[in-house]
Amino acid sequence: MEEVKSGLENVVVLETGVSSIDGTEGVLRYRGFDINDLVYLPYDAVSYLLIRGKLPDDNELAVYSATLNEKRELGEYVQNVVRACNFNIEAMDALRTTISYMSHCDPDLNDNSEEANLRKATNLIAKFPTIVAAFSRILKGETPVSPDPTLSHGANFLYMLRGSKPTEIEAEAMEKDFILSAEHELNASSFASRITASTCSDLYSAIITGICTLKGPLHGGARMEVMNMLDEIPAPEAAEAYVLEKIANKEKIMGFGHRVYMTQDPRTIIFKVLAKQLAESKGETQWYRTAENIENTLFAEFMGKRGKPLYPNVDFYSGVVYKYLEIPPRLATAVFAAGRISGWIAHCMEQYSDNRVIRPRAKYVKPAKTLKA
Ligand SMILES: CC(C)(COP(=O)(O)OP(=O)(O)OC[C@H]1O[C@@H](n2cnc3c(N)ncnc32)[C@H](O)[C@@H]1OP(=O)(O)O)[C@@H](O)C(=O)NCCC(=O)NCCS
Repeated sequence: MEEVKSGLENVVVLETGVSSIDGTEGVLRYRGFDINDLVYLPYDAVSYLLIRGKLPDDNELAVYSATLNEKRELGEYVQNVVRACNFNIEAMDALRTTISYMSHCDPDLNDNSEEANLRKATNLIAKFPTIVAAFSRILKGETPVSPDPTLSHGANFLYMLRGSKPTEIEAEAMEKDFILSAEHELNASSFASRITASTCSDLYSAIITGICTLKGPLHGGARMEVMNMLDEIPAPEAAEAYVLEKIANKEKIMGFGHRVYMTQDPRTIIFKVLAKQLAESKGETQWYRTAENIENTLFAEFMGKRGKPLYPNVDFYSGVVYKYLEIPPRLATAVFAAGRISGWIAHCMEQYSDNRVIRPRAKYVKPAKTLKA
């Protein structure tokens, strides 16, 4: 049997047309398009690109956006599931429960045809942000807010969360967050979703697999930990000692390091600019300056001791952006999921379209035993 690659590092397990990462140059492309260009499109166009494989023309985009608008509202039964959630949980747990319930209501639950899955896709993409916003409001004893069809996907989320329209810069940051969070090649949650899809299980089950996998702090859960860290550090000047103590205690700093990027994660560069713009627009730069001090301290520490830097990953400055957007930490991973849903669906549909069950091997390392007569 071949050598075991711990964590499947650098193991190529499938071919994809969904996205590509150049970890040396720091380039991320969705369906061949650089994210530095895609970030100026509406999320609706990017999600269409991911799930259908091509950019929409004006008419296709108008139809797709209208469908998302139609499907955004939760309806009484789904809203009641959100209400029934135990609130000592993260929004991610409520999302998992609610999507599972939504599957019960779908007469095409086990229909894995492209047509049925595209219909399920728009429903899921439209409803993810609504579920997260409703969870947050119900948690605070507030009534959920209905979506506003005049607003973009990102602006609508902030509107449903707060009950008031976001500023232009806040809406832009949220839209870009959803785009930058939408897809990232064979990350753990997309791979996990594909494994479920490869057994010919239904799309909801595959998406729930993605939710469960994204939740962990070594994956999407890092974003919430970054927000908690920013709350723990009392002032930008305290950041250096804080992270150096963690490093001395052999603790990881959340929002740093990556399996694939050997250089700056291109999403981080965009998130950092957004964080700075939000900080300046609100006249409150403390979190941004704290974040920069953490980044600079870790860069110097790793360069000095290991001769190679430790870079922030996508969860670091997006966590700072969420602070400025007043998104509560317990919502952070679910907001990430509300962007990533398009990527999960794209991967699952690719898997269904040319499927072979994903079933690797393990090397047994314990002795064989015999039952005594
Ligand atoms: C992303 C991550 C899971 C990648 O894991 P990986 O490829 O298995 O890399 P490793 O965890 O083996 O890290 C390699 C080395 O860098 C160090 N390192 C990596 N990320 C680190 C971090 N965030 N803080 C401190 N040290 C870190 C590790 O301690 C390890 O050092 P060692 O060789 O002395 O043991 C890892 O960097 C991490 O746990 N980051 C924090 C969680 C996070 O932000 N996750 C979001 C990912 S987008």
